[in-house]
Amino acid sequence: MVSRQICLVLTILLSSLAIHANDSSPLNQELRLCKRDKRELQNKLNEARREAEDEKSYIINKTAKFCDCKKRNLHCIFAGTKLNMMRLNTGLYYANHSKVAWKAADNFCKSHGLHLVEIETRSELAEVEKIQTESSYWTSGTDKEVSGKYIWTTSKREVNPMLWYLSQPDSFGPGRVTCVNLQHERLFDDPCDHEYGFICEMPRECQ
Ligand SMILES: *[C@@H]1O[C@H](CO)[C@@H](O)[C@H](O)[C@H]1NC(C)=O
Ligand SMILES: *[C@@H]1O[C@H](CO)[C@@H](O)[C@H](O)[C@H]1NC(C)=O
Ligand SMILES: *[C@@H]1O[C@H](CO)[C@@H](O)[C@H](O)[C@H]1NC(C)=O
Repeated sequence: MVSRQICLVLTILLSSLAIHANDSSPLNQELRLCKRDKRELQNKLNEARREAEDEKSYIINKTAKFCDCKKRNLHCIFAGTKLNMMRLNTGLYYANHSKVAWKAADNFCKSHGLHLVEIETRSELAEVEKIQTESSYWTSGTDKEVSGKYIWTTSKREVNPMLWYLSQPDSFGPGRVTCVNLQHERLFDDPCDHEYGFICEMPRECQ
């Protein structure tokens, strides 16, 4: 293979001199070799790029498998892990009864293509209550961004004030960030490092 530097010099030289020597002149032969090498390198590069794309799409496909839930298959598969989703009137949910801090619950849902549950209406609250077996479950609500203002982290919508338990949220003191949990068909706020079970929800676009 002709070295890249020579190739480059020749290409510049020949094109700048606009040599119109006949096809069999040594310089033109050299130029043809250079062009052929360039094509070969370009092909190799394209092939490597295609392989990288395939690898990427394989990873995406593997992680996106949970979208099989569309096909009424309530076992959502993520990178070899099965999560038992529950179909309720208001959507597809996953409940995990082991007690963890809010951040760990949030991470678990996200790493499985889900998000912590967001509750819009009293009827959704009543539906989600059906999957509870313990007393408290984390939802996606917090007042992380503006103290005392509770929003669902996914949609950024404000928590419907009708859904709080009497005297909630009480924020556990001024300036303290709290997270929203669900107990007996009502919402409560508690310090985010308290440990509760949690409920993840399938994003609407995947249902
Ligand atoms: C083309 O170049 C070759 C080598 O330089 C030479 O032998 C040949 O006579 C040239 N032909 C024409 C038509 O100029
Ligand atoms: C990933 O999924 C898309 C769409 O379903 C498909 O076109 C593509 O071939 C898949 N890629 C791999 C590597 O399985
Ligand atoms: C429940 O959540 C915990 C903590 O994130 C995790 O370690 C565990 O694997 C989950 N259980 C199931 C059945 O997915």
